[in-house]
Amino acid sequence: MSKVTVVGAGNVGATCANVLAHADLVKEIVLLDIKGDFAKGKALDTNQQGPIDYYSTKTIGSDDYADTAGSDIVVITAGIPRKPGMSRDDLISTNAKIVSSVTKSIMEHSKNPIIIVVSNPLDVMTYAAHKASGLPSSRVFGMAGILDTARYRAFLSMELNISPKDFQAVLMGGHGDTMVPLPRYTTVAGIPITELIAKDKLDAIVERTKKGGGELVKLMGTSAWYAPGAAAAQMVQTILRDENRIFPCCARLDGQYGLKDMFLGVPVKLGKEGIVQILELDLNKDEMALMNTSADHVRKVMDVYEAMGIS
Ligand code: LAC
Repeated sequence: MSKVTVVGAGNVGATCANVLAHADLVKEIVLLDIKGDFAKGKALDTNQQGPIDYYSTKTIGSDDYADTAGSDIVVITAGIPRKPGMSRDDLISTNAKIVSSVTKSIMEHSKNPIIIVVSNPLDVMTYAAHKASGLPSSRVFGMAGILDTARYRAFLSMELNISPKDFQAVLMGGHGDTMVPLPRYTTVAGIPITELIAKDKLDAIVERTKKGGGELVKLMGTSAWYAPGAAAAQMVQTILRDENRIFPCCARLDGQYGLKDMFLGVPVKLGKEGIVQILELDLNKDEMALMNTSADHVRKVMDVYEAMGIS
């Protein structure tokens, strides 16, 4: 049985740990936060749910990186969330330093972990964590696509009154307003979505998906956590079960889709060594143009990160 560390005991991190505990797949989860007592409280609460929801996974709250030693997978949720009116990119000056230093501290205690980044701005924070870790890019990637496709699929499910279980979709690009939901790769129980929904309705859902995170920030005054935490936990489970499932993840591109030296959302195969393969879809001209716009946007945020001079 494995050991998983979740850095950041805020809403997303604590939800991720709690969902993972419910899967009863991991021996030990370390929930680490600079607010040690807060992390200990979240861990204790999760342990006290074990007898009710029937799982054996033990969660340990801590503020000491020594407790993360020997982690197989580390989920990084540390950093500040958005407030209303902010874009994810506005978080970079605070979160870039946090993500880099968290990654370095993790690497002092675990030799060869897989790192899943959740902190925003996601694509650039994944780039930062990869750089700070010295790990191969197959072992450092970001969670965004599962969340963004989940929002897309949930909106379609609500519109069509069909169970969310039956929706499959691909969504690519950055985790921001330039993300690229792909109706051509969206199906309902094998049926192309375009056969079931009018174009204007589908277009409206694509637009709502792109701003899906912001809709929640407006409603709650802070960013979402149930779906983001569960999405990160799903990636952990897929890796530990060595399932080779296909998910859209933020991965380092090395020429795929004509892009390189950056992290961006693409469909990948996930197994026990992390990213086993990046799938290259035959995007049409319009889809590729949207992907390039998204890549350009992420590159601008990368420039801000590089100008910060974090080693
Ligand atoms: C969101 C944050 C987690 O999209 O990026 O809700």
